[in-house]
Amino acid sequence: METKRTHTCGELKKSNEGERVVLNGWVDSVRTYGSLQFVDLRDRYGITQTVFDESGGSDLLNRAKGLHLEYCVCISGTVRTRPEGQRNSERSTGDIEVLADGLKVFSRTRSQPFVIGDPEEPGEETRLKYRFLDLRREPMQKAMRVRSEVTHSIRSFMEGEGFWDIETPALGRSTPEGARDYLVPSRVNRGKFYALPQSPQQYKQLLMVGGVDKYYQIARCFRDEDPRADRQPEFTQFDVEMSFADREDVLSMSERLLKRVFSEVMGIELSTPFPRMSHAQAVEKYASDKPDLRFGLEVTTLDELLRGTDFKVFKNVLQGGGTVRALAAPGAAEWSRKQIKELETVCTSSGAKGMAWLKYISDEEFTGPILKFFSAGKALEMAKAMNANQGDVLCFVADKKQTANACMHNLRNYIGRTFNLYDREEFHFLWIVDFPLFKWNEDEGRYDSEHHPFTAPIPQDVAAFEQDKELIPSASYDLVMNGLELASGSQRIHEPEVQSKVFEVLKLDEETVRERFGFFIDALSYGTPPHAGIAFGLDRFVGLCLGHESIREVIAFPKNTRGIDMMNGAPGTVDREQLDELGIELSED
Ligand code: AMO
Ligand code: AMP
Repeated sequence: METKRTHTCGELKKSNEGERVVLNGWVDSVRTYGSLQFVDLRDRYGITQTVFDESGGSDLLNRAKGLHLEYCVCISGTVRTRPEGQRNSERSTGDIEVLADGLKVFSRTRSQPFVIGDPEEPGEETRLKYRFLDLRREPMQKAMRVRSEVTHSIRSFMEGEGFWDIETPALGRSTPEGARDYLVPSRVNRGKFYALPQSPQQYKQLLMVGGVDKYYQIARCFRDEDPRADRQPEFTQFDVEMSFADREDVLSMSERLLKRVFSEVMGIELSTPFPRMSHAQAVEKYASDKPDLRFGLEVTTLDELLRGTDFKVFKNVLQGGGTVRALAAPGAAEWSRKQIKELETVCTSSGAKGMAWLKYISDEEFTGPILKFFSAGKALEMAKAMNANQGDVLCFVADKKQTANACMHNLRNYIGRTFNLYDREEFHFLWIVDFPLFKWNEDEGRYDSEHHPFTAPIPQDVAAFEQDKELIPSASYDLVMNGLELASGSQRIHEPEVQSKVFEVLKLDEETVRERFGFFIDALSYGTPPHAGIAFGLDRFVGLCLGHESIREVIAFPKNTRGIDMMNGAPGTVDREQLDELGIELSED
C-alpha cells in the first residue's frame, strides 16, 4: 500500500470530492455504528473524518475496528461530501469525509496518560513528564505555531532594517545580569570554568566595536535563579544592539517591530508611539516599575498626613524612616472580613507585617479595627487623599519603602484581577524611562547596578559621578506589557574611563575588574562607537500574546518549578570517571 501522504488532515474540502487521497496521522477518535466504523485522523493541520464500511471488505473493516486512540496510521480512500445534516462547520474539513480503502498502522501506543482532545487539561506534572504527548494537544500546537510565527516575523523585520543575525558563544565568561551563573567545567583547562551567558551583553557590545553596526540574535540565556511563572533557568532573548544610536533610535525601532509582529501574527494594529513614564513617577503613582496600566487605581503615600498619629504600627514605622502607602479597593466595603483577609494575605506574602484597613461607608461613617486610632475627620482626610469613593476599603501598609511598594504592587494587581478592572484581551505597552543608575543594596552595604554595569549614566561622562550616587540618572529603559517587564535596554558606556568609574562605585576590587572585565574595558579604548540596545524576553512575549500566566506554556521543553526536566530527570548525577577527568571532587553534604 502506498503510504506517502497526498494531503494533510486539515486541507480536504468539497472541491476534492472524488479524489483518491492518502492521509497520515494519529487516531483522534473512533466510533462504531454496526458495520460502519468512523475514524477521525489528526495531525498538526487538523482533523479529517474517515469511514470504513463493508465496501472495503470485512478484513479492512475488522482491522479498522481494532484501532485505538493515538495509534499512528495511514489511511487511504476517496473523498466524498458528507450527507446534509452531518456536516461539521467547526472543522475546516467538516464538509467531507474519506471513504477508506486502505489502512496501515505505523505504530501502536501504550495506554495513554491522558486523552489528547480532552477539554479538561491534565495536571502540569503529568503534562511535563509526557511533554511529547502534551505537544499533540491543540493549545500547545498553537503555542508552538505562534512562537514560530513570532520569530519568523522578527527575523524578516530585522533583516529588512539591515540588522545582521550573529551568534555569540554559549561558553564564555560571567556576564553580570544580577543572577547566578551556570558554570561548565573545562576538561582541557583543568580547574577552570566557562560561564553560560546570562545574556549576550558584552559580546554584542564588542560586535559594535567590531563595526557590525546593527546586530540581532534570538539567543538562549541561562540564569541560575529560582524558576517562577515568568522565569526559567534557560530562556530566550530577542537581543539587539545598534551603533551610533541613542534611546530614541532603539525605542522607535522596537515600536516599529512590535507593530509589525502584532499585525502579522495576531492581526492586531497597535498604536504607536507607546506612552512613557519616568521610573520615579511609576513608583510614586503605582508603587512599581512595571505597573499594569490597563486599569487606574493609584497608590498614595500618607506619611505627611499620618505624622503624629497615635496608631503605634504607623507611628513606629514613620519614626524609623519607613512609609505608609495606601490603596482603595473599589466597592470592597460590601466584602466579608474573610475576603478582606485575602487582601491582607497578599500583603503579608509580599513581606508586610500586616495590612490595616478601613471601610469607607460614607463621609460620616467609617468602620474597621483601626478606626479607634483615628478621628472621623482624619479618616475622611485619608480617604480624600487616596481619591477613594464611598463603598471602598482603604488598605494601608506601613513598612520600609521597598516592602511597602512591593505590597502595593501585588495588591493593585490582585484587586485589578479580582474586580475585573481590565479587558483581558487588551494589550497595553508602556515605556519606563529615567531609571536611576544604582540602587542601594541594604544587605551587602553597597551599590548595585539598577540595570547592568554597562549602562551609561546621564550625563554620559565622568562628571555624572559627582552627583549623589543614588540620584545619578541612567540612560536605560524598560518596556512593560500588561504589567510584566517584556524588554529592557540602555544606551551603553563607550568610554573606558566611565566604565571603570562604574566598577569603582560597585566596589568591585581592582583585581576582579582586571581579571573579569579588563579585556572589555581595554576593548572600549580602541575606538568604540556610541551604541545602545535592548533585549526582549521572547518567552514572555509569546506567553503574553496568548494570554498565558506561565512561560512554561510557550516553551517546548521547560523545566518545572524546581528546575527539573520532568521527562529526562535533568539535572542528573554523573560518573565518577567524568568527575575525575574534570578534576572535580564532590563534598559529602
Ligand atoms: P534583562 O536582564 O532585563 O536585560 O533581560 C531582558 C529580558 O529578558 C527576559 N528575562 C527572562 N525571561 C524568562 N526567564 C528569565 N529568567 C528571564 N530573565 C530575563 C525579560 C527581560 O526584560 N543584556 C540586557 C539587555 C540589554 O541591556 O540590552 C538584559 O539581559 O523579559
Ligand atoms: P496589631 O496592633 O499588630 O494587632 O495590628 C493592628 C492592625 O494593623 C492589624 O489589622 C494588622 O494587620 C495591621 N498591621 C500590622 N502591621 C502592619 C503594617 N506594618 N502595616 C499596615 N498594617 C499593619
